[in-house]
Amino acid sequence: MKTIEPICVAAFASGRGSNLTAILRNIEEERLDARVVAVISNNSDAGALQTAREYGIPAFHLSRRQFDSDEAFEKTLLQTLTDAGAELVVLAGYMKMMPVRIVRAFKNRMLNIHPALLPSFGGQGLYGHFVHEAVLAYGCKVSGVTVHLVDAEYDTGAPLMQCCVPVLEDDDAETLAARLLTVEHQLYSEAIQLFAEKRVIVEGRRVRILPAVE
Ligand code: GRF
Repeated sequence: MKTIEPICVAAFASGRGSNLTAILRNIEEERLDARVVAVISNNSDAGALQTAREYGIPAFHLSRRQFDSDEAFEKTLLQTLTDAGAELVVLAGYMKMMPVRIVRAFKNRMLNIHPALLPSFGGQGLYGHFVHEAVLAYGCKVSGVTVHLVDAEYDTGAPLMQCCVPVLEDDDAETLAARLLTVEHQLYSEAIQLFAEKRVIVEGRRVRILPAVE
């Protein structure tokens, strides 16, 4: 079997960080060839920062509010990512718009995960339980998970992976969210692994996945 060099990943998260935890577990259990080199949060109370500290990963509370200007904030973000040696950036429940300067610096190397099948049920305001409530209110029979490249808008970057999840008759937002979350925890690591294996080719909005090399 071919040995794969672990890819250096920086994660941004604002909340509990269950996707970050899943990534770290998948690394520990050798299902993912990656190293999390930094965790950044706009929220000092984020569970994700606590998890990072428990794992001995550099954890940074960086919020626009700590800085006098957008420029100073963005410079620090970029420096933090560069110093950590980040090759790939993953947004895992990051509730802030990523500054365009950082998006550009990591063009086609920044991912987000969204708990619906984009382009449906995405965009500003559609996060957390709002997504699932909207899916249920529409009467959808399926929802799903999208891992996509990040561009300068909310949830509009090209999809890398999508996975359908059924909506069950007696679902509420909570039960649907829980079913989706178990898929998220697997799919995000699979997406990162594709980058580790250098199998991602971006052609405009079509993101091609090359076959695995034996
Ligand atoms: C996930 O549902 C993810 O799809 C969305 O935000 C949520 C983050 O959850 N972008 P967690 O903080 O990883 O538990």
